[in-house]
Amino acid sequence: MTKVRTVATKPYDDQKPGTSGLRKKVGHFQRENYLENFVQSIFDCLDGFSGTTLVVGGDGRFYNSTAIQIILKMAAAAGFGRAIVGRGGLCSTPAVSHLIRSNETFGGIVLSASHNPGGPDGDFGIKYNGANGGPAVESLTNAIFERSRVIERYEICDADNIDLGRVATSSIGSMTVDIIDPVDDYAALMGTLFDFEAIRHLFASGFRFRFDAMHAVTGPYARRLFVDLLGADENCIINGEPSETFGGGHPDPNLVHAKQIYDEAMKDDGPDLAAASDGDGDRNLIIGKKCFVTPSDSLAVIAANAHLVPGYTQGLAGVARSMPTSCAVDRVAETKGLACHETPTGWKFFGNLLDSGDITLCGEESAGTGSNHVREKDGVWAVLMWLNILAARKLSVAEIMEDHWRSYGRNYYARHDFEEVDAEAATTLIKNLRDSLPKVVSQKMTAGTITMADEFSYHDPVDGSTTNGQGIRIGFDDGSRIVFRLSGTGTVGATLRVYIERFEPATGILDLATGDALADLVADAHRLADIEKYTGRLEPDVIT
Ligand code: G1P
Ligand code: ZN
Repeated sequence: MTKVRTVATKPYDDQKPGTSGLRKKVGHFQRENYLENFVQSIFDCLDGFSGTTLVVGGDGRFYNSTAIQIILKMAAAAGFGRAIVGRGGLCSTPAVSHLIRSNETFGGIVLSASHNPGGPDGDFGIKYNGANGGPAVESLTNAIFERSRVIERYEICDADNIDLGRVATSSIGSMTVDIIDPVDDYAALMGTLFDFEAIRHLFASGFRFRFDAMHAVTGPYARRLFVDLLGADENCIINGEPSETFGGGHPDPNLVHAKQIYDEAMKDDGPDLAAASDGDGDRNLIIGKKCFVTPSDSLAVIAANAHLVPGYTQGLAGVARSMPTSCAVDRVAETKGLACHETPTGWKFFGNLLDSGDITLCGEESAGTGSNHVREKDGVWAVLMWLNILAARKLSVAEIMEDHWRSYGRNYYARHDFEEVDAEAATTLIKNLRDSLPKVVSQKMTAGTITMADEFSYHDPVDGSTTNGQGIRIGFDDGSRIVFRLSGTGTVGATLRVYIERFEPATGILDLATGDALADLVADAHRLADIEKYTGRLEPDVIT
């Protein structure tokens, strides 16, 4: 008989889940009972899961396997009947979402700090996803946090560790543990959405493709899909082996950390499409030959062309974007007569709209794009989407972009991040901006006249909940926007994000360098928020 042990514990007061779960330095998670407290807090806030199934997946970063063993023993103690775990403890975040849905499980636990660095000095993270496959809604994450502040005990089975390395079925107490191939079901789902035959023809015709898996979770997914099933050249994948430290790199698919494929794509003889995904496989980077595609534009192009892809030939029910994401997709929605929703930052806010059938597609400026096939953003799916659209339209990425801007106009766009800012100073900056809102309307700035200024609040049309304090929006007379918000995923100090956008109509100048197009707005952003005073910086640390 496996014994369930009740362990006395003391609460930590810093377990508030941010934009996408609880994220901290690994050392923080290694403190006594830190993970256990949070896992027990999750279970304490759930009802009716006795005998049901839990999916547990992670991106393979340092502490992943240790955490999975603890979670499995606690899930068994809590009364779950079955756990599904990816071999090696690996499962991309969208694949976890799919497993939760396709097995009609109670929910799942995702272990990842997304695109943050891993390793003993890196970051770790945990979040709970419900039966719809999506991140828990705010009311639940708040309840979990409240529970974590008063927790006094947790329960865990005294049992041997499970061998995570082999596909097999075993058990802990009365809970069955199924170690499964993490790619099989996901690859099958992709086969139902995309025209694999057309993509095979594209590759066979000499189309050149490069995918950077960043030593993160998507390596095995990319190999199965792009190489085994679609016939791309074996060498198309770089950094394809998952590693606990992401090969010492930073698994963030941006122009800094995926520089190799960017440089390749900028050459005359470079790949026709270069792409990358992040630590847990939910983000994507899309670069055509000499043509970087912003995530906001990518969402718009996918919305405009989705009808060419088998899974979406019926048309889209509607679309959604996070508030700071550029309004490029709004133009497509307008033309096609689709509803377009604006939600707070974080994928969890798309869940209700996807569940209710109000939207089919959604995305965020932070390299996240997805659809109703799962309840997470999905990096490999976004790459397949582009491959399918390229195969159907028989144009290059650059030609598709040009054609798109000529049809819908162009939203020049950039995000400026000021990292590791003093947390108090960052809060004061936002507070001052908030206080100044009534005064700034009608003010003449370098880029134009301000016509609206507010702090974004979201009223969820499905569950009726309201989420306040989601970023300061400043709108200009020509449709330009500046948005200010503080990151909810950082682990050190505060990160100020400034999102800058300028709309140029289809008849306007569509080939400016982004930096030039946005220069006046950037200057205005610095003036409006006194960025230098509060951050001590004139320039952002990262521009995306
Ligand atoms: C960031 C992104 C946001 C994304 C989240 C999780 O959150 O901005 O779009 O959903 O990571 O991947 P932030 O750090 O801005 O709160
Ligand atoms: Zn991620």
